Amino acid sequence: MKNLVLVGFMGSGKTAAGKIAAKRLGMAFVDMDTIIEVRAGQTIAQIFKTKGEPFFREQERTLAQELAGKSGQVVATGGGIVLNAENLREFEGSAVVICCWVNASVAYERTKHTKHRPLLEGEADRRTRIEALLSEREPLYKAIALQIDTSAMGVEQQANEIVRIYKQQCGG
Ligand code: S3P
Repeated sequence: MKNLVLVGFMGSGKTAAGKIAAKRLGMAFVDMDTIIEVRAGQTIAQIFKTKGEPFFREQERTLAQELAGKSGQVVATGGGIVLNAENLREFEGSAVVICCWVNASVAYERTKHTKHRPLLEGEADRRTRIEALLSEREPLYKAIALQIDTSAMGVEQQANEIVRIYKQQCGG
């Protein structure tokens, strides 16, 4: 079974819907941020703080290469996976890659009470920060062929869509 890779902005439901989709498909679920945290023995927030974002991006890059060589897994990526085109190129060569789109106001609503995302922490105006980051990345997300607009979806519906698209792509 080909890997199923979920890409999208913070708050796009990659992890929540990905877990449900993996269960329905009988596939293993992996979350890239969690793997990076376990390997580093630090949270993503601590990694950003003590080692910096470039170090985190290197870990993300190495892990993407590793996972692109595997199969049978549902992979929830971090929102910044699109920043390095190589990551997507490799995933698209071996997996079904689905972009979970979310608009800025819904991304804000879904993330406003969270404290574990260093790119949003310490921002006096989180909403404006999200709008800026998302519009910067929008062309990268929108370049992915398979899209789900999750903005008006609950997590169950999103998982159903993910499963439907994956099966369709795999000819099932
Ligand atoms: C990031 C998103 C986060 C995490 C890190 C950077 C980003 O993952 O990888 O904080 O650059 O958008 P989630 O999308 O799971 O929040």
